[in-house]
Amino acid sequence: MIMLEIKGLNVAYDKVQVLWDVSFNINEGEIVTLLGSNGAGKSTTVKTIQGLLKSRSGSIRFMDKSIGGLPAYKVVAAGISLVPEGREIFPKMSVLENLILGAYVPRARAKDLRDESLDWVFKLFPKLEERKKQLAGTMSGGEQQMLAIARALMSKPKLLMLDEPSLGLAPVLVLQVFDIIKKLNEEGVTILLVEQNVHHALGLSDRAYVLEKGRTILEGKGFELLSDKYVKEAYLGM
Ligand SMILES: Nc1ncnc2c1ncn2[C@@H]1O[C@H](COP(=O)(O)OP(=O)(O)OP(=O)(O)O)[C@@H](O)[C@H]1O
Ligand SMILES: [Mg+2]
Repeated sequence: MIMLEIKGLNVAYDKVQVLWDVSFNINEGEIVTLLGSNGAGKSTTVKTIQGLLKSRSGSIRFMDKSIGGLPAYKVVAAGISLVPEGREIFPKMSVLENLILGAYVPRARAKDLRDESLDWVFKLFPKLEERKKQLAGTMSGGEQQMLAIARALMSKPKLLMLDEPSLGLAPVLVLQVFDIIKKLNEEGVTILLVEQNVHHALGLSDRAYVLEKGRTILEGKGFELLSDKYVKEAYLGM
């Protein structure tokens, strides 16, 4: 079943158009990766889906409802959550306060639901429970990335979008991030992943789309794209 359907999305910053007729689908239960070089429009795409940017034209449907043009909090309420590029946690707030902010939407806000979400994310990230009183800004880069993911999970998303979650992390932490993504997917969370770490991302993904200069130019199964001549040359340096 198609969970998210993007059709003919056009997005501009003022007069500069950066997405051109972007179209793709995500089926329920999949891990889908969006590949593309710097400036291709990956972050713009996920921000538009989340309702942080407005599109000029095109449609965004999520679970059979149009969500295009809705403000971000309503998109979160509908079941989509974004782990933004660069994490954007609140450094002067504690780990726990950051997590609670992630649960502000109606479907997750009631105290018993919130406690249930906290139990869930603390089980996934035991370290965050140990550190719940620590100021988020004093955590290591890897811990902050885990916190950003955990915060996005506090709204109980059906679709989790992660914008370059492994960026700047040491190899062992990169593996941990990919392990968590896999685990979340096994627990029923559908995943849209933006990654530069093409090898890992494609290995984990059911399917992937390649975005180039704001256009979707290639689509395929994860393992097929790993051996695709164009992908190898452009993204794997082969
Ligand atoms: N706030 C903004 N105002 C104007 N132009 C922007 C803005 N944000 C992004 N752009 C431009 O839009 C294009 C797409 O940017 P975007 O951030 O979506 O790319 P990206 O694929 O996420 O790149 P990266 O891999 O570097 O994160 C780029 O040309 C960028 O310069
Ligand atoms: Mg980006």
